[in-house]
This record gives sequence, structure tokens and C-alpha cells, in this order.
Amino acid sequence: MDDLLRLARTMMVRAYAPYSKFHVGAAVRDEDGGIHGGCNVENAAYPEGLCAEAAAIAALIAAGKRKVLECAIMGPGPEVITPCGGCRQKLREFASDETMIHLCGPDGLHRSVTLGSLFPMSFGPQHFG
Ligand code: THU
Repeated sequence: MDDLLRLARTMMVRAYAPYSKFHVGAAVRDEDGGIHGGCNVENAAYPEGLCAEAAAIAALIAAGKRKVLECAIMGPGPEVITPCGGCRQKLREFASDETMIHLCGPDGLHRSVTLGSLFPMSFGPQHFG
């Protein structure tokens, strides 16, 4: 898990968040053990901004992978960061209810929770049979 936290930290530092000043980094582990990172990328047209988790998932897919086995998210603290609703849905597409989500601050890991606990009864690919 240390590698995920390290990457999430690097991503947080690289975030482009001049409007909210709220830097977020995310890192996801793929089905082959590789890790992929992303950061939030804001925009002068506010709704066009991208969350860190979405960027990390895009990097995983762009690398040819299809599963999120684990995810670390790092925010500035002190409040424990949790993924926004949209990012819970995006994670759900490639993860399962049991997937561990590590919620971190600059001081390290705050809490590890399952995606299912963050996002119960979610709509997902299984609904298409
Ligand atoms: N943000 C993320 O990147 N991930 C989260 O899980 C929560 C929020 C970003 C979006 C926006 O750039 C900034 O944090 C403030 O909401």
C-alpha cells in the first residue's frame, strides 16, 4: 500500500487547483499490480474541472487495464477526504463492493473503507446482466 500512498502524494502536489486551492491526488492498483495516478484539474469554467479519482481511472484505462483492486485518495486534511458521489460511481465501474479505498491526508493514512460501505446498493455493470 505504501507505493499507492506515495503516488497519491506526488499526484496531490501536482494538482491544478487554483480556484478551490484544494489539492487532491489519487492512485489505483490494476489487476496486474501496476499503479496509476491522477490529480484534480480545475478549469476557469468551474463545472469542467476533473476529480483526481477520475484522472487516475482514466490513466488505468489508457494503460490497457480494466480493474481497480485498491485505491488511495489524498487530500489536504485535516478532515478525512472521501470521494465525491460521481467518483464513487466511476470507481464502481471497475471495482467491487469489497475494494478497499484508502483515505489519506498529508500525514498518511486516515482510514481504509470498502467501496460498498461508501456506496451501498450501487448501480453497476451487473445490471446489464
Ligand atoms: N475533488 C477531487 O478531486 N476528489 C474528491 O474526491 C473530492 C473533490 C476535487 C474537485 C475540486 O477540484 C476540488 O477537489 C474541490 O472540490
